[in-house]
Amino acid sequence: MEQILDPLKYGETTVWTKQKVESAIGFVLKRIDQNLDTFSLKFPAPASRGNIYEPIENTEWTSSFWTGMLWLAYEVSGDDKYQMAAEKQLKSYKKRVDQRIATETHDLGFLYSLSCIASYKLTGNEEAKQTAIAAADLLMERYFEKAGIIQAWGKLDNPSQRGRMIVDCCMNLPLLYWASEETGDSKYYHAAQSHARQSAKYLIREDTSTFHTYYMDVESGEPLYGRTAQGYADDSCWSRGQTWAMYGLPLSYVYTKDSYLLHDAVRVTNYYLNRLPEDYVCYWDLIFTEGEEEKDSSAAAISVCGMLELAKHLPLSHSNRRIYENAALRILDSLTENYTTKSLPHSNGILKHAVYGKPLGNGVNECCIWGDYYYLEALVRVLKDWEMYW
Ligand code: GLY
Repeated sequence: MEQILDPLKYGETTVWTKQKVESAIGFVLKRIDQNLDTFSLKFPAPASRGNIYEPIENTEWTSSFWTGMLWLAYEVSGDDKYQMAAEKQLKSYKKRVDQRIATETHDLGFLYSLSCIASYKLTGNEEAKQTAIAAADLLMERYFEKAGIIQAWGKLDNPSQRGRMIVDCCMNLPLLYWASEETGDSKYYHAAQSHARQSAKYLIREDTSTFHTYYMDVESGEPLYGRTAQGYADDSCWSRGQTWAMYGLPLSYVYTKDSYLLHDAVRVTNYYLNRLPEDYVCYWDLIFTEGEEEKDSSAAAISVCGMLELAKHLPLSHSNRRIYENAALRILDSLTENYTTKSLPHSNGILKHAVYGKPLGNGVNECCIWGDYYYLEALVRVLKDWEMYW
């Protein structure tokens, strides 16, 4: 089933002049400059407290969002100071893989795409390439052949996590596709393609909303049941999860050209767009469409990148192509006008009003570092024809 979109809601777009994009990027660069010393050999915590990120070691799933912002800043400004700052951080990524520091996670994809692969793509850094391949090897250890999925969290024999795949993982697959291209070994590609297929099959529900997580029986390969972790309820739709699918499915399409992935991306995108409130920035769970619940600006930023990528791969004749571009620009406009920390001079974050994990009261109505990253990536995508790090 595919939901129909209201063309009037996303029909006409606000104009994004070059000057407007540059001014929005200018604000982000200013914030990055203010943070260069604090996050030189350290990394921002995943979510702020009182809109301020504490510096931490490279042990979280989120370290690379800061490093990725440095690479984007280098690309748009050409200023070597950002390249130097990003390169200075690469040692900690190598150490993390070599010593297996907090690597029992599928998030190796986020971590190494935006740090080492970005470095290799932009500067040809050979050590960064080898580090990213080593990270892909670690990620492969989490692949269960029979179920065709990558386990998201925890030790592989942990009964509460065994065989659990999560929608976020769609964003981690590009590390594997890239590793196949670079090594010539197709095992990474096949694992990623299989995981993408299983995600599309089991994580997307009949109404085109998504489960956050889904358990598979890794011995028989049979599907078990869906559960939430960060959403409102098992049968609601966690907003960021939906946007991970909106962006992750087109990314798998880029590498596999499996057309059903694009079709599924359209389906989950339509569901999302039909659940947005008046200012186009989603609540933290799509069960909410109005009222006092918190918004998740980080999901909104991810959705912009996802829709801009998706639109690129739809035929010119596809009726939703323009709608997605317009919707992306409207959301970006709303974020720029009302969700940046311009009004909070003490903050070292960029996008306010994000939610990390509401059920545990973690990072609620705070800045989240991935929101900052995707906001900058979205602006760069609007500014120029951007070669992805993914
Ligand atoms: N990938 C974890 C999150 O989105 O919170």
